[in-house]
Amino acid sequence: MLAGGATPFYRHVMSPTLAKILKRGTLVAALGFGLLQVVPAKRLFGIPTQDIGTNPPERFVFDGPPEVEHIMRRACFDCHTNETRWPLYARIAPGSWLMARDVHNGRNHLNLSKWGDADEEERQTDRENAWEQVESGAMPPWFYVFPMHHDAKLSDADKATLKAYFLKNAAQK
Ligand code: HEC
Repeated sequence: MLAGGATPFYRHVMSPTLAKILKRGTLVAALGFGLLQVVPAKRLFGIPTQDIGTNPPERFVFDGPPEVEHIMRRACFDCHTNETRWPLYARIAPGSWLMARDVHNGRNHLNLSKWGDADEEERQTDRENAWEQVESGAMPPWFYVFPMHHDAKLSDADKATLKAYFLKNAAQK
């Protein structure tokens, strides 16, 4: 509350008209943001919003060395297992839409939590594909690492550790 008729601070730095426009702009933005939360994004844009915040029940006890699991937990598990960490910002549109899409597609391509249903040959194919993705720099995706998950960035040492595991049983090429 402003004490007895004191001038709001912004009056000193901008005209009343500009202040009014800004106020209105803020209101419109807040309203738009609120509306985004109830947009039927699945129906309109095909976003798999039903996946937001969900972790289906299958689990696979990771079969590699602990240091490999440690790296993959921070760099891969959010999109390629049923053990996704869903922070608050990943539940709020439009960020939630991006994350839902990545997790949905990521799990479809490779879901380590389903490795229990795969035989060793299938898992090895997945591991070799995984190395291809890591070596080329495609995985983890930069838009995952850069804004929110700096700890997912793979050092050369991390990559060497992953390579040794991914290619351990690979046919010599
Ligand atoms: C932000 C989510 C995300 C993270 C983190 C992530 N991926 Fe992916 N990954 C995807 C998506 C989405 C696809 C599906 C292909 C695409 O859209 O590019 C994919 C595809 C793949 C594929 C299959 C490629 C193909 O052609 O079928 C492999 C293998 C893979 N990722 C490995 C990894 C590994 C290993 C890590 C960790 C080092 C990782 N990914 C981290 C989202 C992610």
